[in-house]
Formats: sequence, structure tokens, C-alpha cells
Amino acid sequence: MEDINRFVTSTKNMTDAEIENSLRPNSFDEYIGQTKVKEALSVYIQAAKNRKESLDHVLLYGPPGLGKTTLSHIIANELGSQFKVTSGPAIEHAADLAAILTNLNQNDVLFIDEIHRLNKTVEEILYPAMEDFALDFIVGKGPSARNMRLKIKPFTLIGATTRAGMLTNPLRDRFGVICRLELYSEDELAIIIRRSAKILGISIEDDACREIAKRSRGTPRIANRLLKRVRDYAQVLGEGVINKQIADKTLQIMEIDELGLDNIDRKIMLSIINKFSGGPVGLDTLAATISEDSSTIEDVYEPYLLQLGFISRTPRGRVALEPAYKHFGIPFLDKQS
Ligand SMILES: Nc1ncnc2c1ncn2[C@@H]1O[C@H](COP(=O)(O)OP(=O)(O)O)[C@@H](O)[C@H]1O
Ligand SMILES: [Mg+2]
Repeated sequence: MEDINRFVTSTKNMTDAEIENSLRPNSFDEYIGQTKVKEALSVYIQAAKNRKESLDHVLLYGPPGLGKTTLSHIIANELGSQFKVTSGPAIEHAADLAAILTNLNQNDVLFIDEIHRLNKTVEEILYPAMEDFALDFIVGKGPSARNMRLKIKPFTLIGATTRAGMLTNPLRDRFGVICRLELYSEDELAIIIRRSAKILGISIEDDACREIAKRSRGTPRIANRLLKRVRDYAQVLGEGVINKQIADKTLQIMEIDELGLDNIDRKIMLSIINKFSGGPVGLDTLAATISEDSSTIEDVYEPYLLQLGFISRTPRGRVALEPAYKHFGIPFLDKQS
């Protein structure tokens, strides 16, 4: 069992994890937003429970901080199943994954975070495991080698990834349920902030909640993080209740503007506008210019900039759009005309 524990843990052991866990909704009722995803999953879960079968494998994808890990926990809770956690980069060898799979109990949920980062040999173990609840081995060498098949208990795999496009086709095809998580609305984020404040014992006025929500770039994890920083500031100022003014001031100090853009967003946009005359500029060139990782730009920064209508992805590269020029007070010259 010791070996298994190295790869499978039911809790994260990072320092921030404890706070994150305390804020993590445990049921669909507490999970704000993502209505369509919740509705679909509730039906599939109920059906699987009625048939006393394992739920189909689920792939959750979307930018970081939107609630993929949280939702996976909730699915296991609602199923009344054990929840086992691992991640793509944590599983180095095929044997590690085989050990995890053979130790699963009937209808357990196995969560693989960053599933796009599984290596090829490990991934191949998953194919028969997902499809037939079996592990295939080759025993012996040379002419006497033969295939062995070992049955494992029916289980549900939940895979999470920031980009479904990074999954290989054979892996993606084996998920019966594929859900894309969307950025949250300001209203939804305000509810999440209100809920987190209650759990953390923070008194905050409604317009302060709304102000933080507005600047959380559609992401619950960012909303919770900003709430904690605003609380720090309020504490230092000796203010009992957080009001809009304190929220504003904190966000200003953190250099987060009224749309929630931070320094890196600004660097991305101003670089496209000023250095590349509005684009198109290739992602890698852009990344090199601002010394950021191209996958970080694509996964973490772009979804919100796309939602704001600040950039578009074209076959020739990224292009800055008119709303971005307006936001930064730069005259927009339409290249089409
Ligand atoms: N729908 C939601 N309702 C309330 N809080 C949420 C929701 N989704 C995420 N959160 C909060 O945001 C934090 C980050 O969510 P997480 O599931 O870790 O995101 P991901 O795995 O997609 O990166 C969680 O700790 C949780 O408190
Ligand atoms: Mg996660």
C-alpha cells in the first residue's frame, strides 16, 4: 500500500491547499454556476446509481481555477464512491498506473489531473482499462511470449485538462462524457465570494463583493485569492467591514485594473498593439517577446482576453481587436479599410 500512496493521495499537500479545501463546495447545490454541466452530470450520476453501475468516464476541460478538481470531488460524493487522486506527471511508469488501477474498489472514482501530460506507455495501459476494465500484459519473451489479460473492478475515470485539444484521439474517444467548463459571470462570482467570506469569517459589503467579482477574470480561484488579499488590507487598516473603497484600494495596489487585467495581460496586449502593430503575431514570437511560456499564455491568459473580445486567434497569429485599443486609450486604425 505504501507505494500506492506515493501516487494516489486524497488530499493535496500544498500549503494553500488547506484554505482551498475549506472553500471547496462539496455538493452540486453549493457548486455555483456551470448549470448545463451540473444538470447533465446529475442525470448521468442518478442513472448510474439506479443501475448500480459505474458512471461513464468523464473528461473535464477548461482554464485553471474554474472548478475541475472541485467538480470531480463532488461527482464522487454524489456517487457515494471513494475518490482517488493522481496526475499525469506523477505517473512515471506503466506499472505505477497498473498498481493504482488494480487497487481500485468497485465504482471508485479515479481522478487524473493534467491528463494530457501522461506519457505514451502509461496512456496505453488506460485504453483497455477504460474500455474493458482490464489490463493487458505480455508475459515471457520471444516465441513463448503471450498476452495476458487481468480484469479490474469497474471504475470511473475523471480526467482534467486545461486543453482537450492536447489529448490524443484514442484517449479522448474513451470518455463517454466530455464537459467544458466556462468562465463565470460576475453575478456567479459575487455569490462565490459571498460564500467564501462567510466560511472564512470575513465581513464584506455587497458592493465590495461585486467589485472583486468584476475583477476576477471569470475565475473562482482568482476571486477567492483576491478576497483574501482584500481581507489582509482591511485588517492592516483596522477596518471591521470590507467596503468597496478598501476593495478598490487593494486591487489598485495589486495593479489589477477595473477589468481584472494584471501586468502580464497588459504586457501581452500592449506588445501585440505596439511592437507588432496589432498583429497578427505568432504565439511563440509573442511569448518570447514578453518572456512568458507560450502554454501559460494560451491556457491562463488568453481565455479571458478572448472573452473580453480583446484578441482573436487567426491562422496567422494573434490579433488585437478594437475593444483592447479602447481600453488602453490607443487610437484604432482598422486595417481592413
Ligand atoms: N462552481 C464553484 N462554486 C464555488 N466555488 C468554486 C467553484 N468552482 C471552483 N471554486 C473554488 O475555486 C477553487 C479552485 O477550484 P479548482 O476545482 O481547484 O479548479 P481547477 O481544478 O479547475 O483548477 C476551489 O477551491 C473552490 O473554492
Ligand atoms: Mg485542479
